[in-house]
Amino acid sequence: MPIVVVVGGQWGDEGKGRIVDLLARKARVVARYSAGNNAGHTIINDRGEFKLHLVPAGIFYPEKTCVIGNGVAIDPEALFGEIEDLQVKGIDTSRLVISDRASVIMPWHVRLDQLDEELRGKEAIGTTGKGVGPCFIDKVARRGIRIADLLEPEELVHRIKAVLDYQNRVITGVYGGEPIDFDECCSRYLEYGRRLKPFVADVQQVVLDAHRRGDHVLLEGAQGSLLDLDHGTYPFVTSSVPSSSSSGAALGVGIGPTEIDRVVGVFKSYSTRVGNGPFPTELFDDTATQLRDHGKEFGRGEYGTTTGRPRRIGWLDAVAVRYSVRFNGLAAVALTRLDVLDTMPSIKICTAYELDGQIIKTLPANEKVLSRCHPVYEELPGWQQPTEHVRAFDDLPAQAQAFIKRVEKLLECPVDLISVGPEREQIVIVNPIF
Ligand code: IMP
Ligand code: MG
Repeated sequence: MPIVVVVGGQWGDEGKGRIVDLLARKARVVARYSAGNNAGHTIINDRGEFKLHLVPAGIFYPEKTCVIGNGVAIDPEALFGEIEDLQVKGIDTSRLVISDRASVIMPWHVRLDQLDEELRGKEAIGTTGKGVGPCFIDKVARRGIRIADLLEPEELVHRIKAVLDYQNRVITGVYGGEPIDFDECCSRYLEYGRRLKPFVADVQQVVLDAHRRGDHVLLEGAQGSLLDLDHGTYPFVTSSVPSSSSSGAALGVGIGPTEIDRVVGVFKSYSTRVGNGPFPTELFDDTATQLRDHGKEFGRGEYGTTTGRPRRIGWLDAVAVRYSVRFNGLAAVALTRLDVLDTMPSIKICTAYELDGQIIKTLPANEKVLSRCHPVYEELPGWQQPTEHVRAFDDLPAQAQAFIKRVEKLLECPVDLISVGPEREQIVIVNPIF
């Protein structure tokens, strides 16, 4: 049975949560493989509305094993907060499995994230400030603390001492910030270790055992591919690998890239971005407000799940998105929020950029160059009628069908799923993924 990866194809918030929620029905194991609690999924189901940051979206199905892989940065306090929230709403969290190799967000990571962002001034990344970037910096610098370390109390105290001595020098010396208290940090993380212990396991085994038993496995990406450390709009990116390239999904749960059967990319029917960085199709007019505030009265407008910031809005950027289709090796696209376009008289898609008088069709690596790119648009007629009740492709308005066909062509990838509203059943399944 297949291992399927679901990735965000744009700058995050494409609606991965609801697609994972849908595909999770058929999966036995659902695993998060990257990022940390900088990510945020909104999931609406018969149990209510949930905001998940670390726990995989499979948690709502009683028989699924939900895995947090080694590629994830875990803030234990945020994780326990989320677990408690789920428990209060009657969701069983005992099926959660956490990799002993996952990185731990420590108090200095959160402080450094904020101090570093301040120091960058006008060049600020727009980080969510959850400490994820500095945590991955420590991982690469080989002084990170991992979940396995939290389970060895004596060793842990020594590790914290060594790393904190160094990080407090950075905090006070480089940034002029307040140092982190060693005793308080130790007692908190020793306690976290005790509480985490029942959840900790060898994640690779869980994933591969399920695969070999013939069960479906879903690997759930966080954020979006255009925030990828390698392929995103560097340096306005996140510090991990949200994409599915072998260094992302497979690495993040400890399996080989050849174990992965299919990669599904989730794309919004338009674009959004939170945080800073180039965004060629960004809109600043009434259209942006209209798209952003669609469903706002139900708390479903384009505002960040993690930070509440208004999201920047633009038309679909086929240049950026085709790049994302390619480096993810996508087999299928899930196109979300089609209903948000229902009222638009016409819809634009960016098919190329104009750069210094030349037409280009690839995404420049340098963000300053990308900032100089102007979108070249193709304009399609809108359908101006509701689609939220539609469940079959042939029942979509002709203009909506034409829009989707055009997206398929530009992205060089079939659109297999189309969402037309936030509820679980508001989906058009052209081709089931599992
Ligand atoms: P960081 O990963 O929190 O440092 O943020 C780096 C960039 O990624 C910023 O532009 C954030 O707004 C953005 N970002 C991080 N996580 C998400 C997410 O889940 N959705 C959308 N943007 C995100
Ligand atoms: Mg989100």
